[in-house]
Amino acid sequence: MNIQWYPGHMTKAFRQMQEDMKLIDLVIELLDARLPLGSRNPDIEKLTQGKGRILILNKADMAEKVENERWVRYYKEQGLRALLLDSRNSKSMGEVRKAIEEACRAKRERDQRRGLKNPRPVRALVAGIPNVGKSTFINSYAKKAATKTGNRPGVTKGKQWIRLGEGVELLDTPGVLWPKFEDPQVGLHLAMTGSINDEILEKQELAAAILELLRKDHPAELTQRYEAEAGSLTLEDVGRRRGCLKKGGEVDLDKAAACVIDDLRSNAFGRITLEHAPEVTED
Ligand code: G4P
Repeated sequence: MNIQWYPGHMTKAFRQMQEDMKLIDLVIELLDARLPLGSRNPDIEKLTQGKGRILILNKADMAEKVENERWVRYYKEQGLRALLLDSRNSKSMGEVRKAIEEACRAKRERDQRRGLKNPRPVRALVAGIPNVGKSTFINSYAKKAATKTGNRPGVTKGKQWIRLGEGVELLDTPGVLWPKFEDPQVGLHLAMTGSINDEILEKQELAAAILELLRKDHPAELTQRYEAEAGSLTLEDVGRRRGCLKKGGEVDLDKAAACVIDDLRSNAFGRITLEHAPEVTED
């Protein structure tokens, strides 16, 4: 299945980001921990070269623990700091705040050397593909910062600058993908995790691809979920097990497909990382 999705509003949003670049000191790139490479937008990576950068492997609670650690090491080897995060939990924002502080230090020191009495706040751009958790992250982060400083985060209209009373402003950006997925597997994975508009997807093909992937990497979880032998399990079997039937008793394959897709996205097969980390040197 060859999936591409780059609607007009993303082209527009990307252009806006190009304009905003001159205002930005730091980029917070939100990645999906289940897809730590595939969810990284190469256009944003290029656009933001030379800026301070923090990678956040979001939805880490949905990805495999061992893989999470490997991916952090992988990025460390690339000279990048990557943090594992469950953005729904505002208590876990302390580490992010520390990382932002550290990343901002260079600018603060520069401002001090220049003798600036009221240096402007550090401006961070929060970027990521659709559905990666940007709004959730910003809400949790802003709440945490607000309790720390006793201020309420003020959201300015127009540009989505979110003022955090600690010398940092966040610029929210709409989720953008890029025009062409060079590797078709990337498009497929992004569809699995819910970052591609479901309306353009062939659900049965997507579900078949999910079953294939689980058969290969997680046969025990597949068997447990559908109480059937993973090796020979078909979409039709899932439909029968789950009672996805049409009036005459025939299996409703569309419903069965929706069931498989939902199960993957809700971690009904347990924590699953779709991309395995390349070998990295163990410490
Ligand atoms: P976006 O702004 O980047 O588009 O993403 P948003 O914050 O709206 O989050 C998308 C979905 O992902 C939300 O689920 C949100 O709760 C969930 N989410 C965000 N961060 C995390 C995380 O770290 N861990 C987990 N487990 N979930 C996270 P939703 O409201 O249920 O929407 P949907 O999944 O039904 O679309």
